[in-house]
Amino acid sequence: MKILSIIGSPHGEKGNTGKLIGEVLKGAESEGAECETIVLKGDSIKPCLGCDLCHKNGRCHLKDDFEPIKEKVLAADGIILASPNYIFHVSGQLKVFIDRCSSLIHCMALEGKYGASVVTSGGGDEWPIVQYLNHFLMVSGATPVDGVWATMGTSEPDTQVPEENREQAYSLGRTLVNAWKEKRRFAMVEKVQEEHRKRMQELINWYKEEWTYEYAFWKERG
Ligand SMILES: Cc1cc2nc3c(=O)[nH]c(=O)nc-3n(C[C@H](O)[C@H](O)[C@H](O)COP(=O)(O)O)c2cc1C
Repeated sequence: MKILSIIGSPHGEKGNTGKLIGEVLKGAESEGAECETIVLKGDSIKPCLGCDLCHKNGRCHLKDDFEPIKEKVLAADGIILASPNYIFHVSGQLKVFIDRCSSLIHCMALEGKYGASVVTSGGGDEWPIVQYLNHFLMVSGATPVDGVWATMGTSEPDTQVPEENREQAYSLGRTLVNAWKEKRRFAMVEKVQEEHRKRMQELINWYKEEWTYEYAFWKERG
């Protein structure tokens, strides 16, 4: 299994979120996964301009790291999204990336992939952010298996992942790989995806003259 992790934190792999995701990856590697990590520090992806060109031709015209990262996402079997809690939400770094994925969501292009979410905070409120990230994975077509989160205070070089969260993270990594191996299905994920699929088909049918790439994509899928 090839797993691509995306960390939306300026502290990268050495920050709190990076340390927690590191434990997830140890668990995944123990089950034989190959892991690659991309760090979004905030200077490599520009915000979406809302021009709809990606819906029309399947690519964004902005010149930055988004398209190469998108290709890596499409080539992976598993996606892990990781963010610190920035004012009760994902970091701006990760949100900018997510906004640029609009066409992936319209096409549910991550179908067949599995995923998980990782969130850290200074003082709490991680769960709604984990849910948000897993919802993004679901509407993109992927199957999130679960998430892990930890309250870790400020980002300091000597901050440690609490023991309990370390075990949860390791176990999540193993679960992700095993769910992918067994092609595990989750009724709740399928329900959300079924509703989203109907909504996207109506939307894209409505815009079929303009959003030719997305219309052709759905047509090809029958
Ligand atoms: C801009 C900013 C906003 C933050 N907002 C919150 C918050 O709303 N609630 C909270 O508990 N922690 C908040 N924090 C703390 C971080 O979520 C926390 O230190 C996190 O573990 C840092 O992860 P990192 O080292 O991977 O960047 C904030 C930190 C920053 C820099």
